[in-house]
Amino acid sequence: MSSLARPLKGCRSPALRGSATVPGDKSISHRALILGGLALGETRITGLLEAEDVLNTAESVRAFGAQVVRQGPGAWKVSGTGVGGWRRPEDVLDFGNSGTGSRLVMGAMATTPVTAVFTGDSSLRQRPMGRVLEPLKLYGAEYDARPGGLMPVTLTGAGAAMPADYLVPMASAQVKSAMLLAALNAPGRSRISQKTLTRDHTEKMLAAFGAAITVEPLADGGEAITITGEAELKGISVAVPRDPSSAAFPLVAALIVPDSEILLNDVLLNPRRTGLFETLREMGASLDIVNVRDSGGEQIGDVKIRASALRGVEVPPERVPDMIDEFPILAVAAAFAEGSTIMRGLEELRVKESDRLAAIVAGLRANGVGVEELDDGMVVQGCGQGGVPGAGTVATALDHRIAMSFLVMGLAARAAVTVDDSTMIATSFPEFESLMSGLGAVFEPA
Ligand code: S3P
Repeated sequence: MSSLARPLKGCRSPALRGSATVPGDKSISHRALILGGLALGETRITGLLEAEDVLNTAESVRAFGAQVVRQGPGAWKVSGTGVGGWRRPEDVLDFGNSGTGSRLVMGAMATTPVTAVFTGDSSLRQRPMGRVLEPLKLYGAEYDARPGGLMPVTLTGAGAAMPADYLVPMASAQVKSAMLLAALNAPGRSRISQKTLTRDHTEKMLAAFGAAITVEPLADGGEAITITGEAELKGISVAVPRDPSSAAFPLVAALIVPDSEILLNDVLLNPRRTGLFETLREMGASLDIVNVRDSGGEQIGDVKIRASALRGVEVPPERVPDMIDEFPILAVAAAFAEGSTIMRGLEELRVKESDRLAAIVAGLRANGVGVEELDDGMVVQGCGQGGVPGAGTVATALDHRIAMSFLVMGLAARAAVTVDDSTMIATSFPEFESLMSGLGAVFEPA
């Protein structure tokens, strides 16, 4: 990523019109590369998200000895080493901004006797890695990190791995996934449980690559996943659906810019990812899902959105994991609604690419929106008919979702909204500006 900041302004825009296809899903893209790198034979991926976070994962899988080749736009071929075949990388692994890439790769190498050094940008180097590294010790892995479990991290995979039985204490698909990937090269059966359901792409993809994996519901609403180690994975074809977390930005833009009407194609509809759609509907959004179909084990569909008068709601805390990345853009929608929107159970937002809760609150305040910050959430006072004043500058703290959310706010605010940097948008959605401009959004250099 460029070290030079590129401030940008989201400006009041005419009605957004037309259709667009957002890039491939980030979570599925990381997993396809990693599992491809662990499998025997060829994995052919189409629709891969070619953004910085995923390209760093591709680079790391290559560094562990798999062949990773780009064959055309979004089309990649991975020839894996087989489970247990990863070798020691020749250099430090730099994951840039990506918590998902780094944590999943830590899991994937933790039961193979190799050593690797993990680092990242100044955002990633402040994020807790102990939540993955401590439970990986159950398999026999060892690590050294900066105080607080921070990167740079040196991880040495287990020489004689043992199976693990672990209850993931927080609602985190990354921790669950790291533990599942590590189980692949541990003898016998490992059991990974969670109290709260989180995105299940790892489980689904492991089954598709041929792992013996079962998921059993628990009485408290959680689930226990059992996976048999010393697995033999076989390369498959993966068609990556479009990312609902990226679709969220044009979607909310079309809701708040008067008279807009847009269509977003081929969006992933996995229920662990669509909490935002449900919440926006409860707020009064005109949001229809059409052409629902199956694609490689996931449902996809086209999402039709029309500008709508929104009203504040209370988001049920149990829905939070199904929309964990969508709170910055939901807060923007809430700013345009009539009445207050209450969001609680957001403690995980404090350890995202930034302290996202604090960044959202500061960004709303800078643009004249009333908001109360809670330890685990916020209450946004919608501006309703009066409109969002705007005219503020938002500190993005290397957080792509903060940058995109506040640029969207500027499209419908009374005065433009400036973000202090837009370069990090390339970590997840490099075509954000051009795709949004194609629908009619106006951005200006700041
Ligand atoms: C992700 C899990 C979530 C999410 C992140 C992607 C994944 O993180 O915020 O953007 O692909 O597993 P946590 O596991 O930390 O909740």
